[in-house]
Amino acid sequence: MSEKEMEVSESQIAVHWQEEDYYYPSEEFIAQANVTDKSIYDRFSLENFPDCFTEYADLLDWDEKWHTILDTSDAPLWKWFVGGKLNVSYNCIDRHLAKNKNKTALHFVPDSEDERIQHITYQELYTRVNEVAAVLRDFCGLKAGDRVTLHLPMTAELPITMLACARLGIIHSVVFGGFSPSACADRAVDSQSRVLFTIDGYYRGGRWIDHKKNADEAYEISRKEGHEIEKILVWERHSGEYKSSSPLKENRDYSMNEVLKNYRRVKVDPVSMPAEAPLFLMYTSGTTGKPKGCQHSTGGYLSYAAGTSKYIQDIHPEDVYWCMADIGWITGHSYIVYGPLSICASSVVYEGIPNYPDAGRCWRIAEELDINIFHTAPTVIRALRKIGPDEPAKYNYNFKHMTTVGEPIEPAVWKWYYETIGKGKAVIVDTWWQTETGGFLCTTLPGISPMKPGSAGPGAPGIHPFVLDEDGKEIMPGEGKAGNICIKNPWPGAFQTVWGNRERYIESYYGQYCKDRNSKDWRDWPYLAGDAAVVASDGYFRILGRIDDVINVSGHRLGTKEIESAALNVQELAEAAVVPVAHEVKGKEPDLYVSLKPGFEASDDLAKRVSEQVCNDIGKIARPRKVWIVPDMPKTRSGKIMRRVLGAISNFGDVGNVMTLANPEIVDEIKKMVQGDDDVTPVT
Ligand code: PRX
Repeated sequence: MSEKEMEVSESQIAVHWQEEDYYYPSEEFIAQANVTDKSIYDRFSLENFPDCFTEYADLLDWDEKWHTILDTSDAPLWKWFVGGKLNVSYNCIDRHLAKNKNKTALHFVPDSEDERIQHITYQELYTRVNEVAAVLRDFCGLKAGDRVTLHLPMTAELPITMLACARLGIIHSVVFGGFSPSACADRAVDSQSRVLFTIDGYYRGGRWIDHKKNADEAYEISRKEGHEIEKILVWERHSGEYKSSSPLKENRDYSMNEVLKNYRRVKVDPVSMPAEAPLFLMYTSGTTGKPKGCQHSTGGYLSYAAGTSKYIQDIHPEDVYWCMADIGWITGHSYIVYGPLSICASSVVYEGIPNYPDAGRCWRIAEELDINIFHTAPTVIRALRKIGPDEPAKYNYNFKHMTTVGEPIEPAVWKWYYETIGKGKAVIVDTWWQTETGGFLCTTLPGISPMKPGSAGPGAPGIHPFVLDEDGKEIMPGEGKAGNICIKNPWPGAFQTVWGNRERYIESYYGQYCKDRNSKDWRDWPYLAGDAAVVASDGYFRILGRIDDVINVSGHRLGTKEIESAALNVQELAEAAVVPVAHEVKGKEPDLYVSLKPGFEASDDLAKRVSEQVCNDIGKIARPRKVWIVPDMPKTRSGKIMRRVLGAISNFGDVGNVMTLANPEIVDEIKKMVQGDDDVTPVT
């Protein structure tokens, strides 16, 4: 077996797929759906590309209309709606005031049920966003194009701060609240953010989490990396009651509660931004250790978020919509904040976790707010199915529509979602997409297409996916072979580039299949998503998982290289290798294999330190399931660590033929350690 053959990924060998039966949307759903006309697929066909996407852009208010729909002159850095100008905060707030100022824009649901839900109207959102924009402009001296890092949890202040940035054309970079100070610092340094937003603390699962200290550490780490954050602006979870144990540092930290007193009722004109101006950065993991800053645009991104929220999320003005993602990820950006607000929805921001104080919490929230559109990830569905299978039936809520996103969903879990959470009435859209893509890529259209459990469905309108083999040959629908899912054409929601790294953008996403790097024709630049997929004869795509070094843990995307480089900060370690292990609820978990430098001994204490190091450098979500201290890594003759063999061992799978390895004997030794043998005690 050659080295290349030995590296076949898990997803490439996982095609033992049984097609599921279709489920159909109900008459009741179809009667009210935003899209029921099948001609939408003709309108968005490749023949009508790129003009078709003006249908989405027309959902917005533009200050100046574009002169060019798609400019490909700097391929593959696509430019959408060139010449057009607009403001995102105006589109998400101001334009709704005339008719809907009293409507709730955001329902903020606190972690504790003893704290009342806050209903923030569009008028109030307008006032609060303007005041924060005034702080950004007049107190911080920021202007369009500057970057600001937001290390904030799920409270209303997060979308308010994002929209205030957008009002001025300031580029925000939201870092997931659960990420470590070091992850926050890396992103602040990479984006050269002058200002960092934080909060004194927040609640999660009944616990107070002191958050401000993370900003102190992030500040110090940034400084060591040569970047000085000028100001740290600190929100207070209970306005006027600063509750963090870490004091505000003079001339660096400022309480937003105090600063805002000087900006009460100040109005800030929305800055008319070119469609192509960056709106935000969202860092995500990739093949190399360093997360990449996906740069999203103003006009293209918002058009796509608005269009897909209306057509695929089926949001109507009278709906109450709850997406239980974190705004710190792309799902929250597109489908809690920008998409829903741009079409004047009422969107829920939930501080807590799905199972606190008990497994009925989500359904009490749904009942209290009369939510009818629900959006979550398979990991949450699996968890709720495990801990509270009978809970949904106890509550009187009615969903018309439900979304699943972030990981492949097992058909059995899909059916439970449909029957039990959806009470057999709600349609489901399984939406496949990525941080890079701004919005959905594969999904059914809820009022038109039948659903198929476990399949994301066909391309979204205007998205033309296909599956290519390693040599660039198309694998046809129904062939039953897995390959790399790619998109034939650009679309407005796609990120513009990797912040400050054009080469990485081109190489990672277009390098494999572009045949002519000088071409200005989009047809020569298929987008490589980084997932393996199979396409069935009905054109439905089933996503199998990542083809690169990314592990999807509870829907969170973690780079194996990031975890490995964090582990290697422990000085005793020589090598580290991370592999995904299947987990009943989380989907996958990372197993971390490490070998030691000569002269060091394996111990429980060392394994614990390695685990802590990973949590400190990245965040608790990256905590390895186990740290296995092995005498040596299984390696090819050229010295490459065989992660596939380690993965097979962790998952009790078949390690395949290992005789061509440089050290085949190590495989059995590691197997005994991991899979159990009286002679060897595993190190936790
Ligand atoms: O592997 C795919 C998986 O999540 C990856 C993207 O992760 P991220 O950039 O964090 O964005 C998550 C939210 C869009 C993809 O490359 N993924 C996402 N949605 C699905 C999915 N896998 C299967 N089915 C999905 N619906």
